Amino acid sequence: MAFMTKYLLPILVLSLAYYYYSANEEFRPEMLQGKKVIVTGASKGIGREMAYHLAKMGAHVVVTARSEEALQKVVSHCLDLGAASANYIAGTMENMTFAEQFVTKAGELMGGLDMLILNHIINSSLVFFHNDINLVRKNMEINFLSYVVLSVAALPMLKQSNGSIAVISSVAGKIAYPLIAPYSASKFALDGFFSSLRTEYLLSKVNVSITLCVLGLINTETAMEATSGVLSEQAAPKEDCALEIIKGAALRKEEIYYGTSYWNALLLGNPGRRIMEFLSLRKYKFDRLLNN
Ligand SMILES: *[C@@H]1O[C@H](CO)[C@@H](O)[C@H](O)[C@H]1NC(C)=O
Ligand SMILES: *[C@@H]1O[C@H](CO)[C@@H](O)[C@H](O)[C@H]1NC(C)=O
Ligand SMILES: *[C@@H]1O[C@H](CO)[C@@H](O)[C@H](O)[C@H]1NC(C)=O
Ligand SMILES: *[C@@H]1O[C@H](CO)[C@@H](O)[C@H](O)[C@H]1NC(C)=O
Repeated sequence: MAFMTKYLLPILVLSLAYYYYSANEEFRPEMLQGKKVIVTGASKGIGREMAYHLAKMGAHVVVTARSEEALQKVVSHCLDLGAASANYIAGTMENMTFAEQFVTKAGELMGGLDMLILNHIINSSLVFFHNDINLVRKNMEINFLSYVVLSVAALPMLKQSNGSIAVISSVAGKIAYPLIAPYSASKFALDGFFSSLRTEYLLSKVNVSITLCVLGLINTETAMEATSGVLSEQAAPKEDCALEIIKGAALRKEEIYYGTSYWNALLLGNPGRRIMEFLSLRKYKFDRLLNN
């Protein structure tokens, strides 16, 4: 009985509160109107679709990717669609100096930042791991470390705006599949880092939301090329996927699942992990840490 009241009751109350609040607020496109948003990996695929949705909603966007030519087209289409402003800064996320300076420049272009959408990844193909250490390093740098660098650079602006970070991950960042070990490692790392950071923000009252977006197979050209002939799975539409990510970030959800069934999403959400994470908080002496 003591156990009941000490642990189970608060959990029940919290989960009920969570569902109540998450069901209570509805997404409206106007939520993005005039908002200042960065989208990385925006020259194609889901990133490009997100830029287009944001443009239609009347947001300011700064997009980045390596290909200047592709970005020019994305920006010009964003302006046609009604973006409050649209700019690009081309560069590679292999270069952490670029990543850091990119955020500063984007913030200057828009006069602040409300939403940071981290979406870029290094190309990967489905192959057995052939002891290519450099490939692991590149995956960790581009798919993970640059996300950390970008968030660190964006945090002062996001704190000012009560902003949001959307971290694009994958089902392969929740469960392990063969043939994508380096990619999978980088996506698991995002979950560990950003979920930990989210709890820290909660404890230290930093009002910046972090939305981990767990995607199944999406019908982007890159994903279709990489999986063709290797994987037989239905791919979900990138346009709708892009919209769901924006909705999730705007509603400040902790995680969203897209391109995977309801039951898969429920299992991937891992209630056991949530309970353990919640209970573990009782073991810390936070008041001491927070006063230092
Ligand atoms: C990295 O990016 C910075 C800033 O854009 C640039 O000055 C520098 O030359 C780049 N480094 C490399 C190795 O390309
Ligand atoms: C990524 O894949 C595209 C298309 O297959 C290819 O053109 C490009 O060179 C690749 N880039 C890298 C860095 O491997
Ligand atoms: C951020 O949130 C706090 C607390 O709700 C509020 O007082 C403040 O006005 C908000 N700032 C912005 C820029 O929305
Ligand atoms: C955090 O910011 C959001 C967006 O401005 C606001 O709706 C919310 O009330 C803030 N939460 C807290 C705890 O200040």
